[in-house]
Amino acid sequence: MGKDVIVALDFAGAREAFAFLDKLGQRRPFVKIGMELFYAEGPGIVRELKERGYRVFLDLKLHDIPTTVKKAMAVLSGLGADLVNLHAAGTGRMMEAALEGLTRPDGTRPKLIAVTQLTSTDQETMERDLLIREPIADVVMHYAKTAKAAGLDGVVCSPLEAPVVHAGCGASFLTVTPGVRFADGAAGDQKRVTTPARAKELGSDYIVVGRPITAAEDPAAAYDRCVREFVDGIDRNGKGE
Ligand code: C5P
Repeated sequence: MGKDVIVALDFAGAREAFAFLDKLGQRRPFVKIGMELFYAEGPGIVRELKERGYRVFLDLKLHDIPTTVKKAMAVLSGLGADLVNLHAAGTGRMMEAALEGLTRPDGTRPKLIAVTQLTSTDQETMERDLLIREPIADVVMHYAKTAKAAGLDGVVCSPLEAPVVHAGCGASFLTVTPGVRFADGAAGDQKRVTTPARAKELGSDYIVVGRPITAAEDPAAAYDRCVREFVDGIDRNGKGE
């Protein structure tokens, strides 16, 4: 898996998702299915996207006892997902069980990445609600290292965290990074945003981009721009790296 743009299909149903994908013409981007679309449509949406040639990141963030997660992961793997995730807070044993569940009879498996601390959690809420008193940056790094030790392929994090994650867990440990906006775009509810070109400089492996593409007047042009900036390292003015 090389550097790529993952388009977040944050839609209420398959009709809306496919109406959007139609606007991308023959392009077959890597797409992310979150809880909303998955719970609305069920596993069929994954099969259908795979049949149409899309790579699929199933962003379902599993967190349960190891046996349950192992069995659930076996189901998701059978759907043909390319990338799935879980909460590192489920512990190393849960992550190891997830990997076992994901491994198909032929030995292949989807890539597995971990959510460390959600970006909606800050130091104050972590201390108050979770009783975790370490600095949040240390907690994120500890979770990333636990995920790596369990055999996972990477983590979801901010592009701004990609350098420290790579420094602590190795260059090949994947950083899948949301919070991306074009330099001239609206940030919306994202607080700390990074452009695709900056995410590339910081070493992100995959950027997850939703509204800058899905809500664009010309989604195909916005997707192409994202790829140009992030994969090819070419900015708006056509300048290379
Ligand atoms: O529309 P936007 O580009 O903000 O979409 C980003 C996607 O990445 C959404 O699906 C959002 O749920 C997801 N995400 C995020 N921040 C995280 C984890 C996931 O924005 N920390």
